[in-house]
Amino acid sequence: QKIAVLISGNGSNLQALIDYQRQHPSAYEIALVISNKADAYGLQRAQNADIRTVALDHKQYPSRQEFDHALSLELDRARVDLIVLAGFMRILTPWFTEKYLGKMLNIHPSLLPKYTGLHTHQRALDAGDTEHGLSIHFVTPELDGGPVILQAKVLIEASDDAASLAKKVHTQEHIAYPLVVDWYCKHRIELRDNLAYFDQQLL
Ligand code: GRF
Repeated sequence: QKIAVLISGNGSNLQALIDYQRQHPSAYEIALVISNKADAYGLQRAQNADIRTVALDHKQYPSRQEFDHALSLELDRARVDLIVLAGFMRILTPWFTEKYLGKMLNIHPSLLPKYTGLHTHQRALDAGDTEHGLSIHFVTPELDGGPVILQAKVLIEASDDAASLAKKVHTQEHIAYPLVVDWYCKHRIELRDNLAYFDQQLL
């Protein structure tokens, strides 16, 4: 199965996907990495791994629709089976999310439905939460709102600040995301009637 990874920045999750693919060559093939920022470090990571990259600067497009249309052209040309959002910081139009419904995953650094959007680590601290984590979910038109596939938790300790918490969450992300992508590519995960299933079991 061929996947495309969409990024905007550092791309540490992309790196985890690359490393996992090296260790499990039959799991999936990263056919394409797309960034909406030409200077994203993740593009460098992809090039180092000989993966084709495309930079699509959203500022060059007059509207979200036109940007999403260009994105879609690239994805369709590469004939990917799955789109993996990994730190992709653009809101996608309903047209785009509907088109790839059931074929697009996102990773979000909170225990959804808590803390959609930005600054999730600080918000968990400010709320006095004792645990925090990440969610991997199908992408639907609702921002960070699609059916959750997997969550991993980390403990919040008294000594934690937003940076230390982000680090803990990242460590878990790097383990979880490649596994979920592998399972998807082995047809173990699917979206049906807007619900997520694992091995035919409702999640
Ligand atoms: C991750 O924390 C992910 O959950 C969020 O954006 C961050 C991306 O980090 N969606 P990286 O670019 O993969 O290092």
